Amino acid sequence: MISNLNALKNKDSIRVAIIGLGAVTRNIHLPAYSILAKKIKVVGGCDTDVEARKTAREKFGITEVFDNPLKMIESTVPDIVSVCTPPFLHVEQTLMALENGCHVFCEKPLAESLPRAVQIVKAAEEFGRQVVVNNQFPYMNIHLGAKRMIGSPEFGRLLFLQAWQTFHPTHDTEAGWRGELQQRLCFEFGIHVFELARYFFEAEPVLISAQMPQPQPDKFSDTLNLITLEFADGRAASIILNRLSKGPERYLDMRLDGELASVHTSIGGSVGIKAGIHTREKRPFLGIDFVKGGSAVLQKGNKSKIIAKDGINPFASSTAHHFGNFIKAIQEGETPPATAQDNLKTLALVFAAYESAKSRCAVKMDEYLGNIQ
Ligand SMILES: NC(=O)c1ccc[n+]([C@@H]2O[C@H](COP(=O)([O-])OP(=O)(O)OC[C@H]3O[C@@H](n4cnc5c(N)ncnc54)[C@H](O)[C@@H]3O)[C@@H](O)[C@H]2O)c1
Repeated sequence: MISNLNALKNKDSIRVAIIGLGAVTRNIHLPAYSILAKKIKVVGGCDTDVEARKTAREKFGITEVFDNPLKMIESTVPDIVSVCTPPFLHVEQTLMALENGCHVFCEKPLAESLPRAVQIVKAAEEFGRQVVVNNQFPYMNIHLGAKRMIGSPEFGRLLFLQAWQTFHPTHDTEAGWRGELQQRLCFEFGIHVFELARYFFEAEPVLISAQMPQPQPDKFSDTLNLITLEFADGRAASIILNRLSKGPERYLDMRLDGELASVHTSIGGSVGIKAGIHTREKRPFLGIDFVKGGSAVLQKGNKSKIIAKDGINPFASSTAHHFGNFIKAIQEGETPPATAQDNLKTLALVFAAYESAKSRCAVKMDEYLGNIQ
């Protein structure tokens, strides 16, 4: 059952089997795997829901479909198992895949608590397998483009990062397991922003302070996250996740302020015509922006230039990039980026944010992490 490194190295295609055939599999994983079709083969899928299995078979051409993950692994012998189920199943299914000799590509959030995530890290070590978490946002072109600017002569050092989301929850977005999460917004979405903050600053925040006010007491979960991250050298990030606003939706916007310029990244397609007058220079301007999946814009005062764009599905293309790094690393016997071990630091920020909001005190991350190791 356990495939050894040489066998993987010489394989034309890596065998991937998927647990959970819901939205993330249909909209992100399968499109990502088709980008990587020369390197991987989807050998099986598994879901407890009969409709999800039918769709996977009839619409997505997964012929080997199961209702039980262990049966799937025993029958299809995958090299990698992708865990695409709701978060409360990630630990047990990841452990099961590791115990059966597979590497794991697990959806975020890795676990519902830090001690449970540590169990995964220990099992990966014990079984000599890799677990990578799909916090894929750093691999969107716009975030790669922004990262390239950091430290460049045009941008200088990154000093401050501001991130914001305005999103309208609907019956559909809150259906099923999501609507049952009391820790919802920061746990399920904020985790992407924390991963990006760690990626851009290349440092770990030393202090986190969060408020999660609830102006609508009938709401079950967090709908407003006001979060500050501070780094040891005085740099900082400010994050506002807003699911109350009825204004235009912005999936995720970020402004990175450097010593010499700023970069504004924005996920989400738009076509915009801008016209107006730059007041200081008393100069009119007209511009047309067309971006499909997102853009990164370098800004210096009123001057701006697009430095990167994403296509229509940046979630899938970034997952393909991330998964491509994963298979390259396991074929070469190296440690891939964004392992479960690394992801503990991102996940810790999520739980520390909830603790800070509850206690109304800032949380020191070294003490917080010290308590769980
Ligand atoms: N990385 C990203 O950009 C991204 C985007 C969306 C969702 N996600 C994550 O992906 C995960 C799944 O989200 P989703 O939107 O696909 O949810 P979903 O509810 O659409 O799909 C989950 C699927 O798992 C199946 N399932 C439930 N219990 C199972 C079991 N015991 N064995 C096998 N299958 C089972 C369900 O029937 C369902 O089809 C979550 O952790 C979510 O946070 C990540």
